[in-house]
Order: sequence, then structure tokens, then C-alpha cells
Amino acid sequence: MFFPAAYLLSLLLVMGTRDTVLSTQAPPRGCYMAEEAGERTFRCSQAGLSTVPPGIPNNTRKLYLDANQLASVPAGAFRHLSILEELDLSHNVLAHLSGAAFQGLAGTLRHLDLSANRLASVPAEAFVGLQIQVNLSANPWHCDCALQEVLRQVRLAPGTGTGIVCGSGARPDLVGQEFLLLAREEELCGTGHGGAQRSTDVALLVTMGGWLALVVAYLAHYMWQNRDESRRPLKRAPVLLPVRSEDSSTLSTVL
Ligand SMILES: *[C@@H]1O[C@H](CO)[C@@H](O)[C@H](O)[C@H]1NC(C)=O
Ligand SMILES: *[C@@H]1O[C@H](CO)[C@@H](O)[C@H](O)[C@H]1NC(C)=O
Repeated sequence: MFFPAAYLLSLLLVMGTRDTVLSTQAPPRGCYMAEEAGERTFRCSQAGLSTVPPGIPNNTRKLYLDANQLASVPAGAFRHLSILEELDLSHNVLAHLSGAAFQGLAGTLRHLDLSANRLASVPAEAFVGLQIQVNLSANPWHCDCALQEVLRQVRLAPGTGTGIVCGSGARPDLVGQEFLLLAREEELCGTGHGGAQRSTDVALLVTMGGWLALVVAYLAHYMWQNRDESRRPLKRAPVLLPVRSEDSSTLSTVL
């Protein structure tokens, strides 16, 4: 009579413990939840993570996944975090972002840190609809049309523009250059508007070349004439001198 009762009791206990374990799901190793300035914050900094961990509570407003070994962010990785405002993915080894990496965060996400990773490019779709300030510093950017398109979609966090530098995978003459300066001087998107820009550049170059040829021709002509003149007897030299200096001043004005 005692045995079945004890058995039943222990069974209930075991089930009870399992229930609590499930409902208060332990955070992933190295992660902890905190209340910071009244905001639910989930910190997994330097936790040795190689993937976005499961079990991040859905009432998280700030999520720190910095200084881990995350190599990619799959589609919908943060989809269940419906009130997430701040996401720090800096100091990882991110080389690839899904075009849907930040799916579901359009209404709430404000700050995104992707700095100090291995991103050479990111899909522009990843940022569509997001009202974010993003830090893209310290990545080996490819510095091409695609990056220019991305920068039309997002606002950069204040002071982070100078940190967007072209990496070793970029066109050889661009490596080490600051992207924003570059994009101001050169249209990196070759088609459409960019194509029109390039053809006006070519027209300008041709015109300038024409002018240069004209100036060189004039100069050659002038020097030739001068040489002839110096061969002549210099009888009237004192009278001629002022005229000559006037000539050369006209030339310097032309040049
Ligand atoms: C979190 O998930 C629970 C259960 O699915 C839900 O009732 C709750 O509204 C969610 N909270 C937020 C902030 O999305
Ligand atoms: C942007 O990222 C760089 C490199 O991680 C960091 O030094 C800088 O403080 C960040 N700036 C902002 C505004 O987040």
C-alpha cells in the first residue's frame, strides 16, 4: 500500500521539477538577463557562441551578442523578439548576413552594431523597412555599388562613417580608402544614373583634352616665332623689348 503511494509521489515530484525546468528555461551558458535603466537586457558577450543561441526571452529590449564567434545570421534569427530595440553583433566573425536576418524587427529596432566583423558585403534587403542607426565600422568592405545601395537604406551611427574602409577584396586602387569619401568622388553604380554620370565625365575629359591640344599648339607656334625673331639682327632691340614682355604676359594669362 505504501509503495504505490511513494512511487506516485516521486513521479509527481520528478514531473514537477521537469515542469519548472521547462518554464524557467535556463539561459544559454555565459548569458544572463538584467534590468538596465528599466530595460530588459540580455547579455551574451564573450560567451563563446558560434550560433545565435535559442531561449532568448521575448521581452528582451537590448541584446548583446558581441565578442563571440558568430559567422552568420540566418533568416528570422530574432523574429520572436517583438520588442527588441538594440542589437549588438560587434566583434564576431560575421561574413554573411541573410537578407531576412532582421525580419520581424522593423517596428522596434533602433540600434544595430555590426562593427568589427568580416563583412565584405551585406544584402540591401536586410535593412529594408528598418528605422535604424547602424555601425558598420571595421569590416573589410568590398566598396562597390552594392554597399552604396545599402548606405542609401540606413542611417549610420554618429561618428562611424570614417570607419567604413575598403578591405583587401575591393578593387586594388580602393583598398584602405574611406568609403564615404570615395563615394563622393566616384559613382560606383555603373548603370542608370551612374552611367549618365560617367558619360558626362568622358565628355568633360575630351573637351579638356581639346583645350590642352590648342594651348600646346599655340605655345609651339609662339616659341617657333620667337626663335625666328631672335635670329634677326637686333638693331631695334630697345624698342622691341617692352612689346615682347607684353607678349609674354599675355601668354601667361592664357596659360
Ligand atoms: C512572449 O511570449 C508569450 C507566450 O508566447 C506571450 O504571451 C507574450 O505576449 C510574448 N511577449 C512579448 C513581449 O512578445
Ligand atoms: C562603432 O564601432 C567601432 C568599432 O567596434 C567602435 O569603436 C565605436 O565606438 C562604435 N561607435 C558607435 C557609435 O557605436
